[in-house]
Amino acid sequence: MTTEQDSFTVVQVSDPHLGRQPGPIRDGYPDSDAQLATVVDDIVRHPHGADLFLVTGDLAEDPEPPVYQRLTDHLARLPAPIVALAGNHDDRGLARDTFVSAGHGFEGERVLGDWLVVGLDSCWPGHTAGWVRPAELERLTDSIERHPGHWVLVAVHHPPATVGSRWLDRLALTNGDELLTALARQPRVRTCVFGHIHQGYDAMHGSVRLLGCPSTLVQFLPEAEDFALEPVESGYRVLHLHRDGRVETELRRVPGTRPAGLPA
Ligand SMILES: [Fe+2]
Repeated sequence: MTTEQDSFTVVQVSDPHLGRQPGPIRDGYPDSDAQLATVVDDIVRHPHGADLFLVTGDLAEDPEPPVYQRLTDHLARLPAPIVALAGNHDDRGLARDTFVSAGHGFEGERVLGDWLVVGLDSCWPGHTAGWVRPAELERLTDSIERHPGHWVLVAVHHPPATVGSRWLDRLALTNGDELLTALARQPRVRTCVFGHIHQGYDAMHGSVRLLGCPSTLVQFLPEAEDFALEPVESGYRVLHLHRDGRVETELRRVPGTRPAGLPA
């Protein structure tokens, strides 16, 4: 006998930036592995009824096989299936192979009841900014059309729109307008979640809710002209996807993750 769930919960974790060895990847930064482990500990203690975890890119700072292996070892403690995406710091092929070998999803699509979750590749090799290839846009449209009764959540590393921070907005999706047009054409697309900006973000673009996620490592200062860190805790996003298409979401800040080397 099956029971129909009224809502599904997706937890988004982003931008762990694991280095070649555990430890700080830059002067003044906390240890990437320790920060991620503290976030995973928090999720294990407060699992939010998660049905799926999305890990939205910049998985590794140094994209090498042992680094991705360490990452999947950390994430193995999460209490639900995982779908990961690559970011601009990643080696996408290596990340995909490691995640798939560990039994996780990578990009692709996943159905949760009345919801379809589509993970898109936005990596533009050699660039920090992103680009969604025409074939990815076609895959998105095809996936939505093959699921005519489903609401849609799209996950991508780079933000499709500017977020009001000059330096980050230069490093967003170079063809974000094309992605936004593709999303707006499909009224069942309810939300697009992304990483890359290391901060919370929540705005509407037409009927699509654009949601940014904190990093597990360090946070970028919102609305900054130039690169600056914000001395706040790491966090993650919890999304409740309802059968009527509503999305409820909140950010969880994780105690004990505020970088000690930054001014309060
Ligand atoms: Fe990024």
